[in-house]
Amino acid sequence: MKATATANANIALVKYWGKRSSDPILPQNGSISMTCEGMATKTTVEFSEQYAEHTVTINDEEFKKDEKDIHGHIDRVCKLAGIKQHARVVSESNFPVAAGLASSASGFSALTMAACQAAGLKLSPRELSILTRQGSGSACRSVFGGFVEWHRGQRDDGSDSYAEEIVGKEYWPEFRMIATIVESKKKPVSSRGGMAQTVATCPYYKDWLATVDGDLKVMKEAIEERDFEKVGSVAEFNALKMHATMITTKPSIIYWIPATMEIIHAVRQMREEGIQAYFTMDAGPNVKVLCQEQDVKEISMRLAELEGVTNTILCKPGDGAKIVTEHLF
Ligand code: DP6
Repeated sequence: MKATATANANIALVKYWGKRSSDPILPQNGSISMTCEGMATKTTVEFSEQYAEHTVTINDEEFKKDEKDIHGHIDRVCKLAGIKQHARVVSESNFPVAAGLASSASGFSALTMAACQAAGLKLSPRELSILTRQGSGSACRSVFGGFVEWHRGQRDDGSDSYAEEIVGKEYWPEFRMIATIVESKKKPVSSRGGMAQTVATCPYYKDWLATVDGDLKVMKEAIEERDFEKVGSVAEFNALKMHATMITTKPSIIYWIPATMEIIHAVRQMREEGIQAYFTMDAGPNVKVLCQEQDVKEISMRLAELEGVTNTILCKPGDGAKIVTEHLF
């Protein structure tokens, strides 16, 4: 009753921001992401009589309960599989987990897949994405590779709120994302807390929702047409709209720090010079720069020169979550 899975992080091109239900987790709007080769989590799960409780170790540190209820998610898998044993979970990521880089997406995706396999649960990819979504919303997209859509769904039980591949990673191999990490002293508000506050207090939240379906439609077309400018411009504007709702909540959530602005302006300057680069941002100060393979060298060099940029992580379209044979313990 032991299994290991790896999953890549994913970065949304049309963002998930706001829940219509928190139990089960159901989104207010659909979203589209790229699964990122370059930022991965590997997780081993073992169920055994010898464990008196679930234990979770992430990057060599014991995980303490927080708002992302990993222990509760393991219980969910046990209940479905009808098993009574407890689990030992060990997880490692190849990128900084606290940097607001979708670590919960790769983490929950790898955990769910490994736990199901270890528990002997046979689920279809769609069922796996529905189960993964209950741990953390954005994680349901990491079940699949390439470019992925998470459908909002209509039902209260969440049976129609699942992720699905739009195109596989081989469809657009030149697409790149440069995660640009900035120095940040302040711990930002979590995405979970931030989105709840936005839904509750932002006067413009309904306006955000009114534009998302249009963005989803254009983004899907743009991906299918491999139209980089269209993907980049819709992604950038979508992220700015999401941040506009964050900024106008009470109390205001401002994730941007000076280095964030430096990168935004640098990207816009590059565009003026004819280099195709666009930015997107999530619930934190880091900026992800979208570009194509041919421009990676120039763009990375310019980003590295900016004050406050500590490092960059280069990602390309990657695989969905998968079972591997090498365990972590
Ligand atoms: C800004 O998936 O972390 O990254 O469902 O509460 O676990 P929970 O939230 P989470 O939120 C991600 C928000 C985002 C946008 C996105 O990835 O679509």
